[in-house]
Amino acid sequence: MSEGERLTELAKRRGFYFPAAGAYGGAAGFWTYGPQGAALKSNVEDAWRDRFVVREGHQEISAPDVMPEPVFEASGHLDGFDDMIIECAECGATHRADHLVEDNTDIEEAESLPNEEVMDIIADHDIACPSCHASLAGEPVDNFNLMFETNIGPGTSSPGYLRPETAQGIFVEFPQLSEYARNQLPFGVAQIGKAYRNEISPRKSLVRVREFTQAELEHFVDPEEDEPPLSEVEDVILPLYSAESQQADDGGVEHLTVGEAVADGVVTSDWVAYYLGVAKGWYERIGVDMDRFRFRQHLPGELAHYASDCWDAEAEIDGDWIEITGFAYRGDYDLEKHAEHSGEDFTVFKQYDEPVTVERPTVDPDMSYLGPEFGGDAQTVADALEALAERNPEAFDGDEVTVEVDGDSFTVPVAETNFSVEEVTENGEHVRPHVVEPSFGVGRLVYTVLAHAYTEDEVDGEERTYLDLPPEQAPTTVGVFPLMDKDGMADYAREIAGALREAGHSVTYDDSGAIGRRYRRQDEIGTPYCVTVDYESLEEDTVTLRERDSTDQKRVSIDGLAETLERLTEGETTFDAL
Ligand code: GLY
Repeated sequence: MSEGERLTELAKRRGFYFPAAGAYGGAAGFWTYGPQGAALKSNVEDAWRDRFVVREGHQEISAPDVMPEPVFEASGHLDGFDDMIIECAECGATHRADHLVEDNTDIEEAESLPNEEVMDIIADHDIACPSCHASLAGEPVDNFNLMFETNIGPGTSSPGYLRPETAQGIFVEFPQLSEYARNQLPFGVAQIGKAYRNEISPRKSLVRVREFTQAELEHFVDPEEDEPPLSEVEDVILPLYSAESQQADDGGVEHLTVGEAVADGVVTSDWVAYYLGVAKGWYERIGVDMDRFRFRQHLPGELAHYASDCWDAEAEIDGDWIEITGFAYRGDYDLEKHAEHSGEDFTVFKQYDEPVTVERPTVDPDMSYLGPEFGGDAQTVADALEALAERNPEAFDGDEVTVEVDGDSFTVPVAETNFSVEEVTENGEHVRPHVVEPSFGVGRLVYTVLAHAYTEDEVDGEERTYLDLPPEQAPTTVGVFPLMDKDGMADYAREIAGALREAGHSVTYDDSGAIGRRYRRQDEIGTPYCVTVDYESLEEDTVTLRERDSTDQKRVSIDGLAETLERLTEGETTFDAL
């Protein structure tokens, strides 16, 4: 059984996740998180919020899942958010063409190749349809848009789309969000929420799905002035697999500190380097195995339409590298597009320390000349003259000036434009921020944390499976058991479970089956501690506290048990030190 299959079996049996709507045959790419999975997912989200929102001093919002069509026309998703599709002429099944290439050749990241090249590779390798095994050679490779379309209200006059990334819900609200930030750059806005992509071939359980949760941070910065606090992370060692290394014959992962990566120009954006450093510590905190982890730079053909550079955090599972986060430098792409399409102002006004006097070229064209001369084009010509004066005042140095409008040239005597250069005092300028975006896939993080936590060992001659999840992430902090359901042990155990819940711990009470089986059940869901109430408990108010990984047990006082568990889960003490 592969690592993924083993995990999916455990996930279903123990209530982490399973295919949704199974009673109706299900729908590929949709998963339900069971009680353990929902708790784990929520713990991952809380840890993310703690590190990337609260500790960074950013703000969090919650925007709608459905947004009107113009949002995605502006963002470029309607035009460019495509994957490569190939259809089998024999059985009609559709497949992701670049994945077929990766699965059947040594080529990695086939997504970065042009469609025609992928088609040629499929023909050259005579790659067959995974469904019916007919040859796919010669079948066209087309673009398939991943957006889920819907209608807003009755009828079809107002199309809407399920958002393919939570980010757009932040970008479209920039004018308002900037007000909340008192128009002071830099500021960051985060969102944890659902995103939807109509994947051609959902696969690998939580890895490639059609509905998923993203935790995204959009950090708006002044590209000319703002610097990240690099000194906080400069010594963090990053395993970096740059685009250059990927393309070199002997390239591999380089281990550089954040400081070195920036100084050597391996990571070109200081902001991206800063977040790689912050994120590395966070992945360790939530239980990603650092021996199965790297940061990989996107190849040029792989970059999303909005990104000028992007590094993915990748985790290894079953020998495959899975993207768990993208750290993209989006520049001003999104704010510029939304400004252009909406006509609204997507800048912040940056006040100067002192007012400055600047020369401002202006025109005031004589419409009594332009009107008779250019008829219906007169106003467009006037607007073009104004834009030209701002852009290239030297064009007005001669007797005549020419502007191009929709491919036509219009020549105007400079005297009729009333061109002049005025001195004006300016108190500031409009700046369109650049965006640095760490974008985390929560389901993929959950999957990675589970896969990396999955451990098998032998206890008392018996095979055991357990999840060595960090206590902070474990769905249940403590299992509470009565040794036997008699002589008041169960009532006492229930009382202890209640008190621990009151103190804020996540507790599972279990009195069914042999004590060994109860321990195994908790081990399999990663519960770090178990408390057993026995005869001694009734007499001495002590319990057995068992640690998951070592299976060691200690007797501890019930008095202060909640605090002891708190200190253990917070990492303020160790089980050995108790
Ligand atoms: N916002 C980046 C992404 O969804 O991939």
